[in-house]
Amino acid sequence: MILCENNLFLLKNDNLSYMLRADHRGIVRHVHFGESVRMEDAEALACRPGLGWGSNVLLEDSDSGSSLSDIALEWSGSGRGDYRETPLEMDGRPTDFRYVSYEVVEGAASMASTLPQAHGDCETLILTLEQPGLRLKLYYSLFPTALTRRVVLENIGDESRTIHKIMSFCMDIPGNFEMTSFGGGWSAEMNKTVANVGYGRVVNESVTGASSSRNNPGFLLSEPDATENYGHVYGFNLVYSGNHYSAAQNCIQGLTRVMQGINPSNLHRELQPGEKFETPEAVLCCSDRGFGGLSRQMHTFVNDHIIPPYWRGRPRPVLYNSWEGCMFNFTQRRLLDLADRAKDLGCELFVLDDGWFGKRNDDFAGLGDYNINYKKLPDGISGLAKKIQAKGLQFGLWFEPESVNPDSDLYRAHPDWALTDEFPVLLGRHQLLLDLRKKEVRDYIVEQVGNVLDSGAISYVKWDMNRNSIALGAAAHEFVLGVYDVLDRIFRPRPGILLEGCSSGGNRFDLGMLCYSPQIWCSDDTDPIQRLTIQGNLSYLYPQSSFGAHVSAAPHAQTLRSTPLSTRGNVSFFGQLGYELDLKHLLPVEIKEIKAQTTFYKKYREVFQYGDFTRTKTGWQVSRGKTTIAGVFHTIVHAAPPYEQLRVPGLKKDQLYHVMSLPQSLRVGQFGSLLKHVAPVEVNPHGFLLGKIDNHYQMPDGNEDLVASGAALAGGILLKPLFRGTGYDTNQRTQTDFGSNVYVIEEM
Ligand code: DGJ
Repeated sequence: MILCENNLFLLKNDNLSYMLRADHRGIVRHVHFGESVRMEDAEALACRPGLGWGSNVLLEDSDSGSSLSDIALEWSGSGRGDYRETPLEMDGRPTDFRYVSYEVVEGAASMASTLPQAHGDCETLILTLEQPGLRLKLYYSLFPTALTRRVVLENIGDESRTIHKIMSFCMDIPGNFEMTSFGGGWSAEMNKTVANVGYGRVVNESVTGASSSRNNPGFLLSEPDATENYGHVYGFNLVYSGNHYSAAQNCIQGLTRVMQGINPSNLHRELQPGEKFETPEAVLCCSDRGFGGLSRQMHTFVNDHIIPPYWRGRPRPVLYNSWEGCMFNFTQRRLLDLADRAKDLGCELFVLDDGWFGKRNDDFAGLGDYNINYKKLPDGISGLAKKIQAKGLQFGLWFEPESVNPDSDLYRAHPDWALTDEFPVLLGRHQLLLDLRKKEVRDYIVEQVGNVLDSGAISYVKWDMNRNSIALGAAAHEFVLGVYDVLDRIFRPRPGILLEGCSSGGNRFDLGMLCYSPQIWCSDDTDPIQRLTIQGNLSYLYPQSSFGAHVSAAPHAQTLRSTPLSTRGNVSFFGQLGYELDLKHLLPVEIKEIKAQTTFYKKYREVFQYGDFTRTKTGWQVSRGKTTIAGVFHTIVHAAPPYEQLRVPGLKKDQLYHVMSLPQSLRVGQFGSLLKHVAPVEVNPHGFLLGKIDNHYQMPDGNEDLVASGAALAGGILLKPLFRGTGYDTNQRTQTDFGSNVYVIEEM
C-alpha cells in the first residue's frame, strides 16, 4: 500500500517499508528503508541536523541546520551545498529540483522507450520535481517483495540541455555498510568482492557496452556483522544490459549515499526542448534476515516480476546442447545420432549450437548470414527439427544476431551496418557488432531470425553475443535500446519459445536480459568446482531458475580438472540441468549414472528450479512444499577427515523427516594398484581386465537412508564418515577430490 499525508509518503508491503517526505522547502528527503514502520514513525526516523556541522553551505542563513549536506535525500543536485556525489550532471551547471506534486497509479506506469521493466501487480508513486526549464519525475513502484525506482527528465524550457549523468535512483541511508559485488571475466564470472564503504567512493561499474562479466550490475550493502541468516542487508540491481554504474559512499554525518544507473562515462545526451529521457528501472530489496533472507526476496521478485509471464513457475526441460561435444564439426547424421543418445539418457530438448548457417565452419566467418548450410543439414532446419521431434525431443537453435563477421555476405552487402568509428576497425572473436541503433539493421534481424523460427518446430533459442562494444556513452545506450527492440519484436509474438541468454557465458547476466530470457547460460566454464563459485555467487541476486547449468566431459575444457560425474550432476541440479558433451564415448557405467541423474532431476525439478534457495556451510539447499534437497560439496580431500555434519535449516522442529541420499557408486578403476590388497587374484592396474570391469561395474558408495527430526537436522546430523585410508566399506563415503552428495529430506 502507498500512504500519503501532508507530503509524507509511506510505501509498505509485507517485506519492507520505504518512507520519504517533501519538506517545507520542497526538498525531497529520504526517511526510511527497511523494517515495517508506520506514518507516526516519521519524526523519529528523520535526520534532525539541529545546529548542523561547521563550514557547510546553508539554504537559509538564519537556519544553521539547513545544509543539504547534513540530511538524507531522495535526490540531489550540484552546486547547492550538497557535496556528496550527485545523481545528475547537466552542462556543468547547478541543479536544484524542488517538489511540485505527486500522483499514485495502479500498476507499473509503462516506459516510453524500449527499456524493459518489472511487470505484475504493483502500485506506483510518482513525484514531480521542477527547476526552471526542467521537470524530473521520480517513480517508485511497490511490488510484494521489492521496490523499483527510476526517473524521467523532461526539458520544459526553450534551450537545449545536455545530460552528462543521470542515475535511476539516489538515496541516503543511515549506517555503515560493506558493499558486496561480483565480477571476473570470461569463464571465471561472479567472484565476490567485499569492500568497506568509507568516505572514499566504492564503485561497481561496466563500460564494455554490456552489463559484463567484469562487474555484474547487482550488489549488496550489509551491516558489517551481517551473516547468512542475521543482520540488515540491502540488495540493488538494474533492469539493464548496458554500461552500468553504482556507487556507495559514507560521510561524516554517518549517512551512506547509494546510487545506481547508466554509466555516465562519455555520456553526452542532448535533451531538446520538449524531449524526455527515461532511465532504466532499479530494483531495491532489503532484509533483516541476513544475506539468505535478501537472496530469497530477490529470487521471488525475479521469478514473479522479471521473467516473461508465460514462463513464471513453468517447469523447464532437461536439455542437450551440441557445443562442447561437436563445436562446428557436425553433420545431420551425427546430430541425429546424438539426439537418439540424448533421448535415451532422459533429455527432453535437443539444442543445435553454433555452426548451422552460412560459412560458419569456424568463428572466422558467417555471422550475419542466417541461410542454412545444406551441406551439413541436407533437410534444412525444418527437416532436422521434424526428425528430432519425431524422436520425442523438442528442438532448439543457437543464434548470434547482434554480430557480423567481415567474412559474410551481410557485411559485403552492407559494410555500413557494422558498428565502427573513425579509427581502423577493431575485431573481437573476428567479428563486429551490428549497429542496432539503425532501424534497417533491426528490421533485418527481426525478419531473418523470425523466418528461421517460423520455418520449423523450434521450442528454444540460445541468443549469444560474443564481443564487447566500442560505442560510448549515449551511443552505447541506444545500442542497448535496439537490442531490446529486436528481442521484443521477435519473442513477444512467440511467448512459448524458451529463450536462453548467453554472452560468452555470463557476460550479460542481468535483469534486462531476464525480462526476455527466463534463463541465461551463466558461464562457458562447466567445471563443477568453478561452478560452485559462479552459481553460488549468482544466487545472491538471481534465482536458480535463471542459471543454465550443464554436465560436461572431464577433464574439463576450461580447467583440465577431472571431476566425478556425480559432482557434475549434483552441481548442475541446482540450476537448469543440461548435458553438453560427446555422448558417443560414454561408458556403460556413465550412461547408467546419467539416466539416474535425469530421472532424479525430473522427479524433483520443481524443487530444484523454484524451491527456496539457501546457501549452507556445506553447500546449497532448496525447499518446496514437503521436500528439501541439500547438496554437500567437497573440494580437496584431507587424510583422516572428521565426521561431517549435515545441517538443514528451516524445517519444522517437531516433524520427522526421511533422509535419503541420491545413490552414488564408485568406479573400481579409481583404486588402481590398491586393488591388489583386496582382490583374491593379482590385478594389473593398467590391464585389459580392470579396464573392462571399470567400464561396466560400480560399487555402492555410502548411501544414506535414515529418519531424523527437524530439530536434529537443524542442529546437524552426522553423515556416514568419509574415506580414512582404512579400506572400502558401504558405510562410508569413499570420495576422492571434488566429491559430493545430494540428500532428499522428505516430511514423513
Ligand atoms: C559462446 C557461448 O558461450 C558458447 O556456449 C557457445 O554457444 C559458443 N559461443 C558458440 O560459438
